[in-house]
Amino acid sequence: MADPESPLLHALRQAVRSAPEQAEFRVALAEALINAGDADGAIVELGEALRLAPDSVPARQLMLRALSGGTPAESVPAEKPDAGFDWPTAEAELRDVAPPPRFTPAPAPPPAVPAPPPAADDAREDPRGAPAHEVERPALTLADVGGLSDVKDRLQAAFLAPLRNPELRRLYGKSLRGGLLLYGPPGCGKTFVARAVAGELGASFVSVGIADVLDMWIGSSERNLSELFQLARRQAPCVLFFDEVDALGQRRSQTRNSTMRTTVNQFLAELDSVGSDNEGVFVLGATNAPWDVDPALRRPGRFDRTVLVLPPDAEARAEILRYHLRDRPIAGVDLASLVERTDGFSGADVAHLCESAAEIALMDAVRSGEARLMGMPDFDAALEDARPSTGPWFDAARSVALFANEGGAYDDLAAYFKSHKGTKGR
Ligand SMILES: Nc1ncnc2c1ncn2[C@@H]1O[C@H](COP(=O)(O)OP(=O)(O)OP(=O)(O)O)[C@@H](O)[C@H]1O
Ligand SMILES: [Mg+2]
Repeated sequence: MADPESPLLHALRQAVRSAPEQAEFRVALAEALINAGDADGAIVELGEALRLAPDSVPARQLMLRALSGGTPAESVPAEKPDAGFDWPTAEAELRDVAPPPRFTPAPAPPPAVPAPPPAADDAREDPRGAPAHEVERPALTLADVGGLSDVKDRLQAAFLAPLRNPELRRLYGKSLRGGLLLYGPPGCGKTFVARAVAGELGASFVSVGIADVLDMWIGSSERNLSELFQLARRQAPCVLFFDEVDALGQRRSQTRNSTMRTTVNQFLAELDSVGSDNEGVFVLGATNAPWDVDPALRRPGRFDRTVLVLPPDAEARAEILRYHLRDRPIAGVDLASLVERTDGFSGADVAHLCESAAEIALMDAVRSGEARLMGMPDFDAALEDARPSTGPWFDAARSVALFANEGGAYDDLAAYFKSHKGTKGR
């Protein structure tokens, strides 16, 4: 998808992504794809739509059309589904509408930084279920991360400043051994920040789920594991990012399986070797449940320091909203009000809100046959069902901060609860 897509196609794709089980959305997307000359893409969507709704007449008719190479509707005997709605014309009309202001009173200056790149998070997924260990070169820097100034400061002090100043490091005998463990509720930017650190260093970025490491084929897992670390060394400077670090502890206690045990031990040994004799490989980890992380991983030289990544503050939410609305046909959106009403939302929740609002406007357009701009009523409706997904995490974290804050390991969490007493959503 090198070419920028039309807003309509983009919106339809978002709708499919947010409601993948809705055959209706896929049919609408398929039709738009055919009209845009992408019959192959349409066939994929229609195949899925027919799996979901095998009797759907519009899906079957469109499939015929797509299979015949996406010929214009008139050359196919069957009537065109949704014949009353002409997507390309609607799209053209939309573009011609004298654009009303996209946002009502502009509360903040436009962000000076480009928005985050599309979810490269999934790059490590491999269809065979084995980690592909894709090497990324993130263009992202810490400036692209909205808010999270405490996290950025910690990363600067603990990681970036020593890295950039080898002379000072030598002077103070500061070793680069040991990794930082980012923790916090889901969807709040741990992976995003880790990628930004790599970008900031001009380093490559390799992201690996610990569960993937452990699930590598029995027997060859040790070899795979050392290949992973070798890859990081070859790519140096490289940020090696381990996600779901808590999975290691759970697995270790769950199993007495000796293959697993050797894999885990080898993992720990590899981790220890990084930084001691391999300048240029930097380890970061992330978890939602630091309290479940195997103590073996928290020893000095491993993930020995933690950084709390909290839900985006108001400034960050404004940036995330702008990013997710950047190519959507919106008018009169009151950003300040949305920022206020999304307190406690994770970055992922904010993104989801934008998708839901787009879906509402889109369904309206499908029903009425008339495309219209997205506006505040769509957001009002979407907000009715939207809840911060971080609630359960904070419930669990609260007990930890209150009752299990041994050695002050969760002081920043405790401080957060203190300063957010009685805030909604938490
Ligand atoms: N501070 C932020 N600034 C800009 N975008 C953000 C921020 N926080 C989250 N996002 C957006 O939310 C998305 C989800 O964030 P990310 O995947 O990094 O969450 P996570 O903390 O790693 O979640 P999980 O625990 O589920 O792995 C990001 O891709 C990004 O678009
Ligand atoms: Mg993540």
